Amino acid sequence: MQVTKLSPLIGAEVTGLDLRNPVDADTRRRLNEAVVDNVALVIRDQDFTPEQYLAAVSLFGEPMDQHFTQYALPHCPLVHEVSNRHQDKSGKRVKHGAGWHTDHTNHVRPPKNTSLYAVALPSSGGDTAVVNMRAGYDALPGDIKQKIQGMKTVNVFQGSASATYSGQSADAQVEKKPEPVLQPLVRTNPDNGKKALYFHPVKTENIVGMNAEDSQALLNDLLERTVRDEFIYRHKWRKGDWLIWDNRAAMHRAYFDYDPNEYRLLYRVLVRGELPV
Ligand code: SIN
Repeated sequence: MQVTKLSPLIGAEVTGLDLRNPVDADTRRRLNEAVVDNVALVIRDQDFTPEQYLAAVSLFGEPMDQHFTQYALPHCPLVHEVSNRHQDKSGKRVKHGAGWHTDHTNHVRPPKNTSLYAVALPSSGGDTAVVNMRAGYDALPGDIKQKIQGMKTVNVFQGSASATYSGQSADAQVEKKPEPVLQPLVRTNPDNGKKALYFHPVKTENIVGMNAEDSQALLNDLLERTVRDEFIYRHKWRKGDWLIWDNRAAMHRAYFDYDPNEYRLLYRVLVRGELPV
């Protein structure tokens, strides 16, 4: 197995592994360390059934249930389809993940990793980008770091700001009562002790002690400071690619810049995380 860095601050590529086969403890440890160190890891040239994919993701931890149960594979429900053919009740195609976000922040223990495996790809475009929120946090001026330290976001299934994020997570098929969950705006990764910004703009109803509007203004400011080219890994999908990242140090987004008549299908698995602190 070879691990090659793709840029100084984010992204590494793994080659020389067929993860349909069992791996030894050292390989498993190196894979886990590579995700934590590089934030995003692309493992090339895999050829999985859904069951084999799920078993391979389990090298990183315990797969967990996901929102949008209508996208679960019936015979392998911890694996979900991420498809450009999903429609809402009115028959309109939904564009999940078009804006920067991190997954399932309204869970008390949100996922440690998000994992995507390419099944069908458009002839060009349809990239997935991951941004290093650890580097984003490190680059903040000291006064902003001080201001946000200890702040908590109030997370719901779909926050009131969602209307301003067109195409992001809006899905009329899902009507759930919000169960607010508090998350730290700055979290520390237990695997390396490093701090990172941690929030989902759509799932954040507000920051504790601030109104929704001021909260969104602060999150937008943090996002603008963080989403810099040198902190981003933009993954151009190839057949056989498996992309996995560390949600404790990342936000991600999908690009809808391809012919919508072409099919894009990824299999997604989430890996259970710890209580964010
Ligand atoms: C997601 O936000 O989980 C999906 C990303 C993608 O479709 O590239």
